Amino acid sequence: MKRKKTTLPPGKYRMGGKHFKNDEAFVRTAVRDVKRLERLADLSEGSRLLDWGCGAGRLAVGVREHFASGRIEDYHGVDVQPDLIGWARENLTAPGYRFTCVDVANERYNPAGLPERTLATDPDSVDVFYAYSVFSHMNDEDTAAYLNLISEALSGRGRAFLTCFVEEGVPAWEENPTGYGPLEWKGRLHCTRFRRQHFEAHVADAGLAVDRFVYGRETDGQSLYVLRPQ
Ligand SMILES: C[S@@+](CC[C@H](N)C(=O)[O-])C[C@H]1O[C@@H](n2cnc3c(N)ncnc32)[C@H](O)[C@@H]1O
Repeated sequence: MKRKKTTLPPGKYRMGGKHFKNDEAFVRTAVRDVKRLERLADLSEGSRLLDWGCGAGRLAVGVREHFASGRIEDYHGVDVQPDLIGWARENLTAPGYRFTCVDVANERYNPAGLPERTLATDPDSVDVFYAYSVFSHMNDEDTAAYLNLISEALSGRGRAFLTCFVEEGVPAWEENPTGYGPLEWKGRLHCTRFRRQHFEAHVADAGLAVDRFVYGRETDGQSLYVLRPQ
């Protein structure tokens, strides 16, 4: 059966700057990440996936395009920006797909949000956790706290796939480091960079272990981590 074409979010709702601007690149990066999640995090049609900081649902588009049935067991997109979640709900909600807006604080994306952090999910309920370019816009305290929440949310065989800026021999955490990366960083938390050992100490303190690390090949030079329960 031929599937209906997915409506794609308008440019203003595509997070990630120039990288996801045209339709072809937007869908291509989404499908690429779904394939990587299959390979590195055991994503399958039976998985429960949490797309944290989902924006307007780029990865949902990839799931829909990639799997023969057009869905997985549960795709759950969570974000702090009501306009993006509103668009995703209206255009991408379908059996197997849901979106939640959480009013939690992030100095860049939701400065007036509440201080209580949540992933809007239950403990032990997530097989695949995906956070692309989310820890690249996060303060150090939130980072440690959210890694704890990720650890609680993951099922025993779960995996977390995330990207962030890490380097050796830099301060433990830094906001908008001058002369670093391809962009001129502007405004709160445009780029947050960790000393690698510092980020990995947060990972270990949260009860997680590094399953895979690939340095510097993601958007704007971010690194890729795949994490698993210790
Ligand atoms: C650079 S965008 C990446 C969007 C998407 N992951 C992608 O790759 O297309 C970062 C996203 O993280 C969201 N975000 C930041 N802090 C968050 C939080 N505490 N909870 C949920 N979403 C958050 C932002 O609203 C924004 O949509």
